Amino acid sequence: MAEKRKIIMDVDTGSDDAIALCMAMLDPDFELLGICTVGGNVEAKLTTDNSLRVVECCGMQGKVRVYRGAERPIAATLLPWVPQAQKLPIRDGTKKEFNQHPFHLPLPEPVITAERKSAVSFILDTLLESSDGEITYVSIGPMTNLALAMRADERIIGKLRAVFCMGGGHETGNESAAGEFNVWADPEAAEIVLQSGADITMVPLDATTTAKFDEEDERRIRELGTAPAVLVADLLKQRIDAYQVIEPSDLKETAVHDALALCSIIHPEVLTDVRFCTVHTDISRGFAYGETILDQRPRNKEAANCRFALKADRQFFNDYIYRVLSEAKDRELQISIF
Ligand code: BDR
Ligand code: CA
Repeated sequence: MAEKRKIIMDVDTGSDDAIALCMAMLDPDFELLGICTVGGNVEAKLTTDNSLRVVECCGMQGKVRVYRGAERPIAATLLPWVPQAQKLPIRDGTKKEFNQHPFHLPLPEPVITAERKSAVSFILDTLLESSDGEITYVSIGPMTNLALAMRADERIIGKLRAVFCMGGGHETGNESAAGEFNVWADPEAAEIVLQSGADITMVPLDATTTAKFDEEDERRIRELGTAPAVLVADLLKQRIDAYQVIEPSDLKETAVHDALALCSIIHPEVLTDVRFCTVHTDISRGFAYGETILDQRPRNKEAANCRFALKADRQFFNDYIYRVLSEAKDRELQISIF
């Protein structure tokens, strides 16, 4: 068997984060070193609680630890619980009413608790103790923790093998006309990470919205019947229903943004149109605050800093999620027989 890919997950769990976490724990190609949480879809105390629930759902208590991270962005005040929130006109005030990310995931309250060490301390200690190029960082929420750690000790940048982020959008935003949620929530953090010199792949809305799941995909997964499979199916159903309210369409389907970023680490071919180019985040606090801007001009002299994916293979991604859950079920059965 090929060497496992060592990863740190940074999450704002979050329904699609939960699906990505299941993959990170159940896909034997990954070795999950720890889960860092951040305020994003919901507050950090809730993203932490939700992540602990997912760890228990996958039976990984005692094996995978959760570190609570930043509650608030570095400078932005757009998230609803951040004091003195600027009520910018581009802000979508209906978000919490039809939220596809419930405060609590549909799982029992966790028995395990988060570590005493903060997420930023965990990132610094783990990376500084690692060999160069050993660890891949997977950021699927606002990039606050990683940006803070990079500012605290720049040596971690040279330690990283790669950074994979779900974030950004070229053709569209979601939280605002220009901003994708993770980048919009903490644009300054995204810009710090993007300009860090790390090897970065961004999996933005352009790619994630070309690889959706529908009710048939949900049924196929639910039939597997294991706890993680039922969780994934429940979350798909919930997201499909929520999108019918947020973005009504004849097609009942949903993107699973965060899990695509994870899948692309081991299976880069799932991303089918990837541009290596210069990417910046707008931090000018106007209407485009939090927009990711790609400079693809032939005359651009600035070095490329990021692989930015524009499309993904829907069938491949669907089959990946199903295969990981189905193989995990087979392993569970073998263990119960012997
Ligand atoms: C991203 O924002 C969050 O709501 C999701 O969990 C995902 O990480 C999509 O824009
Ligand atoms: Ca997320």
